[in-house]
Amino acid sequence: MRIDVVTIFPDYLAALDLSLVGKARTAGLLDLRVHDLRSWATDRHRTVDDTPFGGGAGMVMRPDVWGAALDEVMAPGPAHLVVPTPSGETFTQRTAEALATEEHLAFACGRYEGIDARVAERYRAQGVRVSEVSIGDYVLNGGEVATLVMVEAVARLLPGVIGNPASLVEESHGAAGLLEYPVYTKPPVWDGLDVPEVLLSGHHARIARWRRDEALRRTAARRPDLVAALPVDGLDKHDLAL
Ligand code: ADE
Repeated sequence: MRIDVVTIFPDYLAALDLSLVGKARTAGLLDLRVHDLRSWATDRHRTVDDTPFGGGAGMVMRPDVWGAALDEVMAPGPAHLVVPTPSGETFTQRTAEALATEEHLAFACGRYEGIDARVAERYRAQGVRVSEVSIGDYVLNGGEVATLVMVEAVARLLPGVIGNPASLVEESHGAAGLLEYPVYTKPPVWDGLDVPEVLLSGHHARIARWRRDEALRRTAARRPDLVAALPVDGLDKHDLAL
């Protein structure tokens, strides 16, 4: 997969050199390029923003600078344009799964009051897929941190990035639609606290049942919205007794 990120703060994206995403880049599974938006500005001060038409607080990012930047980074092939914004649709594991099937993503990191709305409009009119997405109901200072979140969520789904793909199956927001069960490791007793006995039993069916029950209990307590969204045939008769 190729990912281009355009930002006025390329250094923010330095974390993408680390950990699994960094390894995916080194292994050639992910071709990730970060670009400074200001290199497409045309004036002496490398201006990328201006005052909003209609008045109001703050500054808006200019469409001409963004258009020049995105035309260039999206030129190598059809790209899905992702614009992080608190006014977008909510980014979820399903969004990450959909984006992970693309060959080319371009992230446009806005700052200030956002990017002139004609940028998304123009690319949509050209037939480019444009997703305006929010990573949650809070406001960040710009799209960079949201892009870090989304690139990590997408990159770990690419084939070969996670050593043991089985770990993608049982995790929170995975196929079961539940939060993950609690996990434990050695020592079996720590500070007077025991690991649940069933996990030491070696009884695979009992362990699987216990994990399912704990996942359901945890999801019901923390995220009742996820339980309500479970398909009825996704519950077994033991679940319904819980
Ligand atoms: N930019 C500012 N806040 C944001 C959010 N919550 N999600 C995505 N992009 C943002």
